Amino acid sequence: MNQKIKKAVFPVAGLGTRFLPATKVSPKEMLPVVDKPLIQYCVEEAVAAGIDTIIFITGRTKNVIMDHFDKAYELENELTIRGKTGLLKTLKGIIPPNVSFVFIRQPEALGLGHAVLCAKPAVGDEPFAVILADDLIANRSGSGCMTQMVQQYDQNQCSVLGVERVDPQETDKYGIVKTTEVSPSVGKVDLIIEKPAPERAPSNLAVVGRYILTPAIFEKIETTERGAGGEIQLTDAIAALMHDEQVLAYEFEGKRYDCGSKIGYLQATVEFGLEHEELKDDFRDYLKNLALD
Ligand code: G1P
Repeated sequence: MNQKIKKAVFPVAGLGTRFLPATKVSPKEMLPVVDKPLIQYCVEEAVAAGIDTIIFITGRTKNVIMDHFDKAYELENELTIRGKTGLLKTLKGIIPPNVSFVFIRQPEALGLGHAVLCAKPAVGDEPFAVILADDLIANRSGSGCMTQMVQQYDQNQCSVLGVERVDPQETDKYGIVKTTEVSPSVGKVDLIIEKPAPERAPSNLAVVGRYILTPAIFEKIETTERGAGGEIQLTDAIAALMHDEQVLAYEFEGKRYDCGSKIGYLQATVEFGLEHEELKDDFRDYLKNLALD
């Protein structure tokens, strides 16, 4: 029986040290790009793909994520009294109808593989998505990255990794795959390595923060030893899964902003600012004047 992708796992327990001091007490996932937190862009991408259960794997200092996806009675009441209907609509839109939010604590930061394993009781025996909120992906001319990935899953009924070409000098920041071409944007994964040095990398095709995985991944993670960085790596579990099942790499359409890095975050802020209804004209003028200085 073909199963639909209804659940998405969001590992959000990471410490966000690259954004200290901003992330001392507030989660990196709550950093805003213009006026919306990173995590909300990713939840919207998941919901647009037909996902109705969002599973956050959280840690200490991450409680505001839970609050963000909960009803804010006082604020709603205040906005109602002041007649701020537009803002009220925006606020209510954070929690789409018929979407459930599940929160699971990852007691120790043992790596991405371990974080995904923490979701096992909530995912059960069905295929599911994993979304890393550091990677903000915009597809201005068509459907979102997760929607495209779900289509790939529906066609192929196997795990699908979102990939893109990166600078060959930067392979040590990513899981890197070697593939056999199936179609111009889809390849069968033959090899996957976590963060290889450029001289060891089998290609420059990098896994970004979008995955669709079959539930067989859980038992692979359970038997995965600590790998790169002393962590239980999702990449290593996927390498084990490939012995039993086909895994595909999909070059999605859209632009990725690495919001786990300061430069990627600033790029996203500028580009989303230039598209923002309320700001775009003033912001464009401001940038033009700044460039002329
Ligand atoms: C993780 C994964 C890596 C992947 C990357 C995408 O690394 O381990 O395979 O390429 O996300 O963003 P991290 O960025 O958490 O170090």
